[in-house]
Amino acid sequence: MNLLFVSSEAYPLIKTGGLADVAGALPAALARTGVDARLLVPGYPAALDAAAKRRPAIDLGDPMGVGETRLIPAKMPDSGLPVWLIDCPALYDRPGGPYMDTNGRDWPDNHMRFAMLSRVATILAIGGALIGWRPDIVHANDWQAGLVPIYLNQWMGQRPSTVFTIHNLQFQGLFDASVVPAVGLGAENFAVDGVEYHGMVSYMKAGLQYADRLTTVSPTYAREIQTEAFGGGLHGVLRERATDLTGILNGADYDLWNPATDPILPGHFSARKLDGKAACKAALQKEMGLEEDPRAPLIGVVSRFSEQKGLDLVLDVIEAVQPEGAQLVVVGTGDPALEQAYAQATKVRPGRVAAYIGYDEELAHRVLAGCDILAVPSRFEPCGLTQIYALRYGTLPVVRRTGGLADTVVDISEEPKRGTGFLFEQPTAEMLLATLRRAMDLYLREKDWQAAIRRAMNQDFGWDRAAVRYLDLYDTLT
Ligand code: ADP
Ligand code: GLC
Repeated sequence: MNLLFVSSEAYPLIKTGGLADVAGALPAALARTGVDARLLVPGYPAALDAAAKRRPAIDLGDPMGVGETRLIPAKMPDSGLPVWLIDCPALYDRPGGPYMDTNGRDWPDNHMRFAMLSRVATILAIGGALIGWRPDIVHANDWQAGLVPIYLNQWMGQRPSTVFTIHNLQFQGLFDASVVPAVGLGAENFAVDGVEYHGMVSYMKAGLQYADRLTTVSPTYAREIQTEAFGGGLHGVLRERATDLTGILNGADYDLWNPATDPILPGHFSARKLDGKAACKAALQKEMGLEEDPRAPLIGVVSRFSEQKGLDLVLDVIEAVQPEGAQLVVVGTGDPALEQAYAQATKVRPGRVAAYIGYDEELAHRVLAGCDILAVPSRFEPCGLTQIYALRYGTLPVVRRTGGLADTVVDISEEPKRGTGFLFEQPTAEMLLATLRRAMDLYLREKDWQAAIRRAMNQDFGWDRAAVRYLDLYDTLT
């Protein structure tokens, strides 16, 4: 089976969040099962630099009328998976992130940047002669690849089947109706049963309407998004397509996230031999300027700062956890108000609260390994990966019972013999505080805490399990 996996980010080429972790690992896991999987990503400068074994470019002409475009075949640095990068300087050769400029403003030509991603995916999918390879399945991810199914439907000849995966319904790729002709859509597509969404063009809706199968990244989120509260206005479309929609839980890449071998960590440990975790905690406290106290319960956060993640709630409980001697270390970036609030919190409680405002992949590893507790109080969470990494690093997650958080963490109070973390229902500071207190109570009972850590570390959320589920799905299409 030949698979083209289309994503706007893929670790380690370019990453802003969990989508990159998925695109870096899932196609490689599928390749291990025998699928001929290949990845397509935009050729941002960082991605072009990081790609391994680049080969001569293939000329694509000017497929979107914005400038010369080439396809660069290369390999993923870690997995060796074949990857194609779209080299279109007019759209991608600029400083800043994949979606926003250096000031945090969306690129004004995002409709073109990601229409190009879908357009090139389509050229690869139907123009086998160009590259000597043709996919049976095109797997498109999130709104950035949402036009793939519609472009493929416009093709009159035989086309590959399409799978569209929702990673986050909050980001829908909404653009002014005037972009319709420029991105190669017809007036007939701009309709309620097409890409039209409250007078705008929605790339997410395009994916939902036209793909052969839909998936999202956890079973619970698959149910939630069919309700008004979680569906971001698209719950009706999702309900109509309910029989084509499945939730397949993401995995963790345990080659990158293994506390016994992780080269980033100052100490190593495993479920059998926990010793090195104390060294990670001590080193983290030192690095972040926290009091070097092995007994202080150390609570961590590694996250984008956005409404979704509920990090305002963590700010609200900082004072209340002081009597327990708790410490807090936060690594995150995003919403400027939250960035300021966390920077301020470190000034109010030096030695007890530390924050790194920014993005630092290696620090994320050290925080996930060095903390005792990871807080993920998300208002919604399609899957969430940090809690899965935390489990493997013996850091017990305190999470809201929503989306993938509900599917990956078992509450210790409810199931003392099976539990791996702590869950709460309502996204309020009171509930978060009560749940952190439950965690800190257990932390004082050293034997029970260690037993829980070991259970958490023994959980297996490897990608091979998810890959089998995707394979089954692809099989229904070929
Ligand atoms: P989302 O994709 O919604 O941001 P996930 O939990 O699925 O949430 O994935 C987030 C990924 O990004 C994880 O790999 C996490 O470690 C990483 N991450 C988030 N914020 C930061 C940061 N400030 N620095 C380093 N890594 C981060
Ligand atoms: C999105 C979601 C996150 C999920 C990730 C990867 O960014 O917010 O919950 O883990 O995609 O699927």
